[in-house]
Amino acid sequence: MSSTNAGASWDRQTLPEGDEKKQAVREMFDAIAPRYDMVNRIMTFRLDVRWRRKTVRDLALPSDSTVLDLASGTGDLCIDLRESGLTPISMDLSYGMLAADRSGAPRSQADILQLPVRDRSVDGVTCGFALRNLLELPAFFEELARVVRPGGRIALLDVGTPKNRVIRFGNNIYFGKVVPKIGALLSDGAAYRYLPKSVAYLPEPAEMVSMLCDAGFSDASHHLLSGGLTQQLLATRD
Ligand SMILES: C[S@@+](CC[C@H](N)C(=O)[O-])C[C@H]1O[C@@H](n2cnc3c(N)ncnc32)[C@H](O)[C@@H]1O
Repeated sequence: MSSTNAGASWDRQTLPEGDEKKQAVREMFDAIAPRYDMVNRIMTFRLDVRWRRKTVRDLALPSDSTVLDLASGTGDLCIDLRESGLTPISMDLSYGMLAADRSGAPRSQADILQLPVRDRSVDGVTCGFALRNLLELPAFFEELARVVRPGGRIALLDVGTPKNRVIRFGNNIYFGKVVPKIGALLSDGAAYRYLPKSVAYLPEPAEMVSMLCDAGFSDASHHLLSGGLTQQLLATRD
């Protein structure tokens, strides 16, 4: 069980901002990388596997399309993309996560707000559970619009806030009290205390859809998965 400086940054009432947030995110994921997959499967009862597979299906791109998986972590989405006949490329900020990548996809250390990729050069983008870690969502969506070819598709996943009051109450207890204990037992407690707090960084669904439209994805849509435990954004580049 490790206690990192990044953990100290998260383990307080106010969430960090700006450069402090970027550094803390990288250090936090470096620290939890070795046990990230195991904790994910346990804390979501393997629903995370289902959410990622659905996201790849909803990308709805033809075989052999090149897809950037951004904030790829240990490569779960890259594995699903490859199994669907697509060609994934993995990018993440954290060396620890990239080192734990099991997908075999080509990988690169990069800040996904400044992609080392040519304009209109990829058919699609996936991004799982990272939107809330970014400094600025409009800048990210503009970067996606820059690198995806016209007609290309994006599918983005992140944790959500259930609409139903009872489910929301249970979800708050589970992520607020139970998940941090599982995290502390198996990995890094502070990092898993960050999880429920970090949802606060995400704008409302309508605002994210509007940001995507402004960036150049006019058919952007928002979907709740598993009653809103997770949310998904889908869009096609104009
Ligand atoms: C919760 S993990 C998700 C990993 C993987 N996509 C998944 O579905 O399991 C979030 C990932 O986002 C990465 N990340 C956060 N901010 C980033 C940034 N600005 N650029 C690149 N990667 C970033 C972290 O290093 C971490 O691997």
